[in-house]
Amino acid sequence: ANGAAKAGKSRNVLEKMDESDKNCVVFYGSQTGTAEDYASRIAKEGHSRFGLNCMVADLEDYDYENLDQFPEDKLAVFVLATYGEGEPTDNAVEFYEFLGGDDVSFSEGASAEEKPLSKMKYVAFGLGNNTYEHYNSMVRDVDKYLTKLGATRLGAAGEGDDGAGTMEEDFLAWKEPMWTAVCEALNLEEREAVYEPVFEILERTDLSAEDKTVYLGEPNKKHLQGAQKGPYNANNPFIAPIIESHELFNAADRNCLHMEIGIEGSKLAYTTGDHIAIWPTNAGKEVDRLLNILGLKDKRHTVIAVKGLDSTAKVPFPSPTTYEAAVRYHMEIGAAVSRQFASQLAQFAPNEDIKNELAKLGSEKDYFHEKVTDRHLNLAQLLEITSKGEPWTTIPFSLIIEGLLKIQPRYYSISSSSLVQKNKISITAVVESSHKPGAPHVLKGVTTNYLLALKQKQHGDPTPDPNGLEYCITGPRNKYDGIHVPVHVRHSNFRLPSDPSKPVIMVGPGTGVAPFRGFIQERAAQAKAGQPVGKTVLFFGCRKKAEDFVYEKEWEEYKQALGDNFIMHTAFSRDGPKKVYVQHKLEDYGEEVNKLLEQKAYFYVCGDAANMAREVNTLLGKIIAKYRSVDESRGEEIVKAMRASNQYQEDVWS
Ligand code: FAD
Ligand code: 2AM
Repeated sequence: ANGAAKAGKSRNVLEKMDESDKNCVVFYGSQTGTAEDYASRIAKEGHSRFGLNCMVADLEDYDYENLDQFPEDKLAVFVLATYGEGEPTDNAVEFYEFLGGDDVSFSEGASAEEKPLSKMKYVAFGLGNNTYEHYNSMVRDVDKYLTKLGATRLGAAGEGDDGAGTMEEDFLAWKEPMWTAVCEALNLEEREAVYEPVFEILERTDLSAEDKTVYLGEPNKKHLQGAQKGPYNANNPFIAPIIESHELFNAADRNCLHMEIGIEGSKLAYTTGDHIAIWPTNAGKEVDRLLNILGLKDKRHTVIAVKGLDSTAKVPFPSPTTYEAAVRYHMEIGAAVSRQFASQLAQFAPNEDIKNELAKLGSEKDYFHEKVTDRHLNLAQLLEITSKGEPWTTIPFSLIIEGLLKIQPRYYSISSSSLVQKNKISITAVVESSHKPGAPHVLKGVTTNYLLALKQKQHGDPTPDPNGLEYCITGPRNKYDGIHVPVHVRHSNFRLPSDPSKPVIMVGPGTGVAPFRGFIQERAAQAKAGQPVGKTVLFFGCRKKAEDFVYEKEWEEYKQALGDNFIMHTAFSRDGPKKVYVQHKLEDYGEEVNKLLEQKAYFYVCGDAANMAREVNTLLGKIIAKYRSVDESRGEEIVKAMRASNQYQEDVWS
């Protein structure tokens, strides 16, 4: 089931293009909203610079069988993120399977060999992360499939790399030659770009923020009406009670939260190893900063109705709402600003000097990096710093909606076992707070600081509340008692062996230990119930035993249940004169690791994707080579084969 079908909308993209007079469709496959944002930017630029009439399309909202009738004078754009282990994003799964399927068939009946897409012209950009093995595999595969089916690509297929932190610049560098190729193929000419708002913002002075029809953070109509109703999913989060929360670290400057989130009565179900998605709200301080610098301070509670000026423009949040609620609950206001957005802002600067500065930032890559990227500025901070606090009153609010990402849920590896606590999901989240050199403000992660504030509120902690929780959805309308957070569950493939007597080896430094707490909790319960449970080996690492050794007492309890079958190897990186990491311990116990693997132990890695997970992968190949007396390339092949057969599983993030 998907949005378009449910709303009774047509799934025929060609019809939709005809009806709304479009000659370009920008399809996106997006997981965290970045690909979707790039798709709308391409659509807007296509229109403002080249007069292309573009629509943006969520891949899951349309059928693909009629793409063989895609007219030759129109353009298809594919903006595709690769997710996790080279997988398509959730909304692109069907498209990917359709196009790459062995028996792909189109409405006109031409076989794949007959090049059914020979009329279609397309361009493609991929969003990937080179720290993962299957870098940008989505765009590479789709490009290959489209070409094979006869479609013609204009310009090169672009690839953005989040791993190297160059996504935005990769995108900017790709799009100029792409536009040149598009103009040539479709006979277009560049025109003077003018800003055209995508949304109409109507201030509804006839409504007050207290009116029952006005959204103040409620994710959808059911929530607004006060009775949340399932099924709960990414479009309809469950407002879940936080049953319990506590601090896991014993450190002055760092926090790590353990939370128990209640899902009883929600029909949400999870399996050990799944992820929970948490929907954050922005910190009150950042909300105020943005409203103030936009000159909306006195209008924060003004009710606004937001409408797409074109039938294909999707309003990214429910309406009517207030300026404040839109900013607090629906926009990713804390994220770094893009160079393209900076250049668009120039025309709305409060004076000529600021306008020139913004134009310079927008056009000079190195200057932008020095002044904005390296200082980690978000939108409000950029506006504040460049205007020295003078409000930017002429920026259309539509541009703010267009320029900022829709707020995204963050995922957490569930740290409990569904067998043990089916109605309560545990998470283990380290609070992101860092003072980066050059940055004028402490960088605070949106979700983890929101959770920290909820914990403080729950404990009646006097610490100043950075989220201004008085306006939180759990607040003014009093629909939910106590402390709540919107969540949904995302199923993963990270799984214990179905037979508990199989041995497992788990490598999880830092919060990477989260799912393994769930795994071990489960195996301890199975052992207590008299089931035979195999060797359960955990490699855990943290900075200092006395500071961030999470769940130290609990591991002892599991040991009681599992006996000698539970073995924990710890690596404390900052307790001694030399750094000790989980890899060192893996090496020390290499012989045993290899032996267990030969007994078909499952091998799991969780946590940092950028360095740790890669290094563990490489090291395991070496360990296997050493103890099986084969050369290292053979060791690598064995690890690859283990991955392919799911004997080696990863749950990693960067
Ligand atoms: P965000 O607001 O998303 O910020 C992220 C980072 O960007 C921060 O370090 C922040 O300092 C920095 N930043 C903020 N603003 C700017 C700016 N303007 N410019 C530059 N940088 C900026 N985490 C856990 O703790 N435990 C888990 O079990 C866990 N499991 C995960 C499982 C999966 C599958 C995935 C994908 C991620 C997992 N994570 C986990 C990570 C988690 O999803 C979040 O990414 C993390 O908690 C940070 O979220 P946040 O909203 O607090 O930070
Ligand atoms: P460090 O911060 O002292 O370098 C959890 O974050 C633990 O993982 C910490 O002890 C951290 O050590 C360690 N760590 C950092 N980089 C790592 C890497 N590349 N491989 C394994 N562990 C690492």
